[in-house]
Amino acid sequence: MKFQLIGYPIQHSLSPWIHGEFLRKAKMEGNYTINEIKRKEDLPFQLEEMKEKGVTGFNVTAPYKQAIIPYLDELDIAAREIGAVNTVHLKSGRWIGYNTDGLGYVRSLKVKYPEEMADHSLKILLIGAGGAARGIFYALSSEGYQHIDIANRTAEKAEEIAKLGKSWTVSNVYTLEKAEQKLNQYDLIIQTTSVGMKPEADQAIFSISSLKPGTIVSDIVYQPILTRFLQMAMENKAKVHYGHTMLLYQAQLAFEIWTGITVSLDDMDEQLQRILE
Ligand code: ATR
Repeated sequence: MKFQLIGYPIQHSLSPWIHGEFLRKAKMEGNYTINEIKRKEDLPFQLEEMKEKGVTGFNVTAPYKQAIIPYLDELDIAAREIGAVNTVHLKSGRWIGYNTDGLGYVRSLKVKYPEEMADHSLKILLIGAGGAARGIFYALSSEGYQHIDIANRTAEKAEEIAKLGKSWTVSNVYTLEKAEQKLNQYDLIIQTTSVGMKPEADQAIFSISSLKPGTIVSDIVYQPILTRFLQMAMENKAKVHYGHTMLLYQAQLAFEIWTGITVSLDDMDEQLQRILE
């Protein structure tokens, strides 16, 4: 089976390593290669070429998660609602688009914190309103979590996301300053912006001063693995959830779509941490 990743730049992507491990674990013949596409205009030609080469599934990363949509034959409901695609599968000659980013992330939270995540009334704060926040909001909302507030620098962008959810009327939209004062109300706090990534590793979107006991704090930034935001969460005795798990679980879901096989992630979490450190 042949799989690919398209995007630009993608030379340092970890997806070939992750899917290489999956193919090995599933005892399947095949490969996962990168296909760096520099110009958006080349997308339709590249799709044709992938078909000719026998590629049956590919991942899409920046900057093409939205640009790929007009060239696909169908979108599943998540990709349609989120308005972005990260996984494409060739089925009966037709390219079908999916989005496994947010769904994968929510799966990772459920695996790591099964008891806490079993409570659908837990109070959730999502920080940020970009593409990543959109995927996570959709996943949480479609899996029945009823209370999701959003905090963002630009209020209008947060309002747009809030309208996506089935239960958007119970969600509140806050400024970052307001959310900072309300942190001790939440059971789960998810940081989805790029603030805190290398080389601004000493930055955090805001400071964490008081949390409810047992709050789970998650940051989707995975370079560095331990962000300033997560350090502050630890100092406040939070349970932390690292960003690199999103990478693993979105890939697990993509592989499931392409092959029907759910590979076990076993030791891959620790291995990936070592690669990133
Ligand atoms: P992605 O698709 O990776 O989520 P994005 O769509 O560019 O990226 O979204 C970036 C998010 O990070 C947005 O919520 C953005 O806030 P705005 O909507 O106000 O632009 C947020 N963000 C980025 N840099 C920020 C900063 N320095 N301070 C606060 N928020 C920031």
